[in-house]
Amino acid sequence: MFASLEDVRKDCAQRLIRAARDRRSAMHTPVIVTGDVDARVMVLRAFDQAAWSLRLHTDARAPKAAVIAGDPRVAALFYDQGAKIQIRLRGTGEILTTGPEVDAAWTGSTRFARRCYLGEGPGVVSSGPTSGLPGEVEGREPEEAELVPARDHFALLRIRIAVIDWLYLSHTGHLRARFTRTDEGAAWQGCWLTP
Ligand SMILES: Cc1cc2nc3c(=O)[nH]c(=O)nc-3n(C[C@H](O)[C@H](O)[C@H](O)COP(=O)(O)O)c2cc1C
Repeated sequence: MFASLEDVRKDCAQRLIRAARDRRSAMHTPVIVTGDVDARVMVLRAFDQAAWSLRLHTDARAPKAAVIAGDPRVAALFYDQGAKIQIRLRGTGEILTTGPEVDAAWTGSTRFARRCYLGEGPGVVSSGPTSGLPGEVEGREPEEAELVPARDHFALLRIRIAVIDWLYLSHTGHLRARFTRTDEGAAWQGCWLTP
């Protein structure tokens, strides 16, 4: 099934494509790790197969946005329990708040998704349990006009992948491969590793 390194790299690409498109995919919600050794679950919104980059959405005020701005090292961890495949990615993160790609991601999101950006940013201490949302939109879908101020808080996280580490668990013997590249235009260099 995985006879060559090319088979493995194609497997990674196919899994990431599906992870972004299919919310039922086990790989739809990877763990994203930042340089401050913090980790959190995020939704994978898109995988650009040509550039080998990931797109995720976040709040520009979230602590991770400032961390990435100061230290762009990012890792992404995926595991598909059914397929018994782990994918570990390392690369460079970039937080974008303006530009056509961010605008398209914003308008392409549902009003419920965009509502999250109306309230307080993540991690603000509160005197009691809180969603952080303004009371008038709590429990309902906001109108387009109400969402205008939320746009300023919306950010896109782009991760340019530089290292792919793939692990397949199998009764007949686990398999592992790694692919690296020096920059975005360069060809991937692959090798098999002991698991
Ligand atoms: C299933 C799931 C999906 C999530 N998706 C996102 C996401 O797409 N973007 C995001 O910023 N946070 C997402 N979160 C929340 C983060 O895990 C985290 O709590 C939040 O971003 C806090 O910000 P920080 O990591 O900057 O401290 C998600 C959490 C869960 C459990």
